[in-house]
Amino acid sequence: MGKATARAAVVCGAAAAMAAVALVVWRRRTRSEETLRWARAEEMVSELEEMSAAPVEKLRRVADGMAEEMNAGLEVEGGSKIKMLITYVDNLPTGSEKGLFYALDLGGTNFRVMRVQLGGEGRHVVKRESREVSIPRELMVGSSTGLFGFIASELKKFVDSEGEDFHLSVGKQRELGFTFSFPVRQTSVASGTLIKWTKGFSIDDALGEDVVAELTKAMEKEDLDMRVAALVNDTVGTLAGGRYYDEDVVVAVILGTGTNAAYVERAHSIPKWQGLLPKSGDMVINMEWGNFTSSHLPITEYDRELDAESLNPGEQIFEKLISGMYLGDIVRRVLLKMAEEAAFFGDTIPPKLRNHFNLSSQDVSVMHHDATPDLRIVGNKLKEKIGVADTSLKTRKMVVEVCDIIAKRGARLAAAGIAGVLKKLGRDTAGGDKKRTVVAIDGALFEHYTIFSQCLESTLRELLGEEASRSVVIKLANDGSGLGAALLAASHSQYNDFEEP
Ligand code: BGC
Repeated sequence: MGKATARAAVVCGAAAAMAAVALVVWRRRTRSEETLRWARAEEMVSELEEMSAAPVEKLRRVADGMAEEMNAGLEVEGGSKIKMLITYVDNLPTGSEKGLFYALDLGGTNFRVMRVQLGGEGRHVVKRESREVSIPRELMVGSSTGLFGFIASELKKFVDSEGEDFHLSVGKQRELGFTFSFPVRQTSVASGTLIKWTKGFSIDDALGEDVVAELTKAMEKEDLDMRVAALVNDTVGTLAGGRYYDEDVVVAVILGTGTNAAYVERAHSIPKWQGLLPKSGDMVINMEWGNFTSSHLPITEYDRELDAESLNPGEQIFEKLISGMYLGDIVRRVLLKMAEEAAFFGDTIPPKLRNHFNLSSQDVSVMHHDATPDLRIVGNKLKEKIGVADTSLKTRKMVVEVCDIIAKRGARLAAAGIAGVLKKLGRDTAGGDKKRTVVAIDGALFEHYTIFSQCLESTLRELLGEEASRSVVIKLANDGSGLGAALLAASHSQYNDFEEP
């Protein structure tokens, strides 16, 4: 080997050694950066868990608060954040309702039209048909003529498709039960004005207007000859639909896009309603519990941000912790913060993660229920919704953990709400009144998010104790609210004083 060649070999060897050292240092640094990122991500999830914790003692306070607010709201108008609205529904279906009735259900991202042929005593539902239509986003924040016009035209199409299996007695006008799932100050069973919008609707010119008059106007424009016989909240519809099949149903809860509850109150004991009541007996109350709030609610920074950036800041706080409209967005906000502070999805923040409501509660539910060993479904969802193609199993596991914390907090709070209503009714303890108490629950969140509904039921047992729980039944009332509205239209029909021909 010549001198020059030998020198070159030494230089090369040295360079290679330096490169190897640099690689080790770089790997170590990236590994330690990686460790730091993971440590921060884990820390963030632990903080989230701590802030979202809803242990049973806290839930008892929430339940007590709910019962107190119910009393306060009943006592004085505006006495509580929960409105405790009188519905003018003073009797619930008996099973003797008969004839053809329509129902229209508006209250989420879809609305549903339905017709049902009721068979009268013992015959129950002879035939029913329904159709679901999704509401274009721009109509949810446009004008009331736009929204009601669209609904009336879809209803008209549906009525026109009525087949021969449905029978309207000769000379009768079609009648409709209108489920309008927003806070309404009712002036009778078939009239009322909208107090405020919730669930992402915001149509200013509808506020304070008579909802039935608006719909009637729109139906007339469509040449649709139909009378609105009952205006009901979805909770009230669910209570009526539930009672049709089970006379022990006394509470109805909606866990869907929004959340709320209705129950039967012994109304004659309430002084402010004297004179308003057709009979001094029972009265269904639409609680509007979505607006409940309490210092015992486990509210995190993510909830505060969501609320501040919502269409209705400061309102519907209970709803924003529980319902289907918001669970997905809370999870999105947590993941975004983890991406920003712990590079959870790598060096860049996935732009889609910044889009509000990009992750739905249905996405959260799908990820939460993923039973594949490598969490493949979670991986696919993250790719589809957030745009991150490759995620490690560790990352996917942590995403599921976040879903678990947020969904279970919501389910536990909903259980506390129900416990509060049962307390108000004196049906939360083992002693005393041991009557069977049925709580009818409707809504996609409860129906399809199994971990959520199981957690709600086990939490309610935890709160009531084994013995009291034995007389409380939770029943899924699938589409109870549509049927309930049709039933209430039947019991408030303009033809009720006349004999069936
Ligand atoms: C509305 C209630 C409704 C509930 C469930 C809430 O946002 O204020 O009227 O019952 O959603 O649909």
